[in-house]
Amino acid sequence: MKKYILIFSSLLLTFALFQSCSKDEDTKTEDEKLVAEATASGLTGWVRTPTVTAPDPVSIHGNFRIWFNSIAFNALDGSGNLPVGKSFPTGSLIVKTIYAVPTGPVTSYVVMKKDPGNVNVNGGYIWADFNKDGTINHSITEKGVNGGCVSCHYGVTPNRDLCLAFDRH
Ligand code: HEC
Repeated sequence: MKKYILIFSSLLLTFALFQSCSKDEDTKTEDEKLVAEATASGLTGWVRTPTVTAPDPVSIHGNFRIWFNSIAFNALDGSGNLPVGKSFPTGSLIVKTIYAVPTGPVTSYVVMKKDPGNVNVNGGYIWADFNKDGTINHSITEKGVNGGCVSCHYGVTPNRDLCLAFDRH
């Protein structure tokens, strides 16, 4: 009898482990996937924010640095700018790390990802704002509206695909 209980409990454990692993992959929300992508190592720091930089007066973000994945990085010219009138290719990820205290740790992230096929797309990008611990301030599903993202990032000249840092830093 004891033996059967043992077999049964190990089967149960295997099943539970299997379930939790596949759950991680399948049920991650889009926000969680973007958080994982934006906090992964391997992004390239923008050449003009090698250290924490004070924001432009129109920004609400605070002290920051900017990071690009390789798709976005390859679209930049020799001065680190996206040329005027050009667009970032699909899959481009731009991450702005925010620091409440310039010498302190990252406190939050604002993210733009070029994903024209996404249901939550606005201006070609999905938009999100989340804290260091992964909790969401502004979900992708808000489409950049509630956080004021698109109202600030839209309609600025010169047009660098809704990005504001290139002409301000
Ligand atoms: C009040 C204006 C304002 C609002 C609202 C705003 N941004 Fe920005 N954002 C800026 C400015 C200005 C910059 C350029 C860097 C700086 O000086 O802070 C910037 C830079 C960025 C960048 C780096 C790429 C770039 O544009 O140069 C990302 C990513 C970003 N913002 C995401 C967001 C997201 C996501 C939201 C909404 C949750 C948002 N922003 C809301 C003004 C704003």
